Amino acid sequence: MASPARIPPAALAPGPRETPRPGESARARAPRANVVRRPRSSPRARTAAGPSDVSRSGAHLEDVILKNGRTTDMAHALWRAVLREGDLAVDATAGNGWDTVELARLVTGESSGRVVAFDVQPAAIASTSARLDDALEPARRARVELVLDSHANMTRWLRPRRTLEGDAGNRPDPDPDPDPGAGAGVVCFNLGYLPGADADRSVTTETGSTIEALRAASEALRPGGVVTVVGYVGHAGGDEETRAVKAWAAALDPRRFTATVHGVVNRINCPQLIAVHKKRA
Ligand SMILES: C[S@@+](CC[C@H](N)C(=O)[O-])C[C@H]1O[C@@H](n2cnc3c(N)ncnc32)[C@H](O)[C@@H]1O
Repeated sequence: MASPARIPPAALAPGPRETPRPGESARARAPRANVVRRPRSSPRARTAAGPSDVSRSGAHLEDVILKNGRTTDMAHALWRAVLREGDLAVDATAGNGWDTVELARLVTGESSGRVVAFDVQPAAIASTSARLDDALEPARRARVELVLDSHANMTRWLRPRRTLEGDAGNRPDPDPDPDPGAGAGVVCFNLGYLPGADADRSVTTETGSTIEALRAASEALRPGGVVTVVGYVGHAGGDEETRAVKAWAAALDPRRFTATVHGVVNRINCPQLIAVHKKRA
């Protein structure tokens, strides 16, 4: 794995891209030499987080359930209920950046809001960066930090920075227990592997580091914030990992957190949303 780094936007070359979606900018729709197409036949690929009509419409949970039941849309609906412009949001698994863009749209403004997105693969960081460049105007794009490091180390990266532009924070904070400031409104996980024909599917999230990261995420939340986890059961290790996430959530102190599980039960290998809400004092 590459060494940890906070990636300034200018340092990122365009990476692999997924098929453009309805509603993407004209720039995003322009033909590219290295477009990566997602196979249509795989249930895992269908659920791996490109925006649907529902998610782009700003729909609420009932619309998601009544229209398509997509698990990622359920997570997005929850984010919309929780996040406000100016918030901190964390994408623990940046992948191809669909979720990072959605978070950035919800929290960034001209001069407030911050998104920190993690991935262990340079290809994922590059793909997310390119998608952010397409989707966001520069002032908002500059408020999204991409970190090439495991989400298990997220606490070190969440301390408020003096500047979002410079390279002052190009290393993790050495303090293992920093003050995360006001705390995150959302920390999201979309588990599994990077979708895309050219992606390396041998790199997946792993139960041990996922649980470590979830512990950090639940502490990094502000009161009223949520951790969302989209867990997959259709690939090797995914079922075990999703069960471990549910067991972790089920053991949380009910005085501090409300943990819930959501998903479609009459579709084969349908992903599940595990949501952990940090109660207000
Ligand atoms: C299903 S994809 C995420 C999809 C993404 N949220 C999107 O909207 O496109 C899972 C990602 O988790 C990443 N990953 C695996 N282990 C990780 C770790 N320990 N820390 C951070 N990211 C990790 C993989 O490289 C992969 O890109």
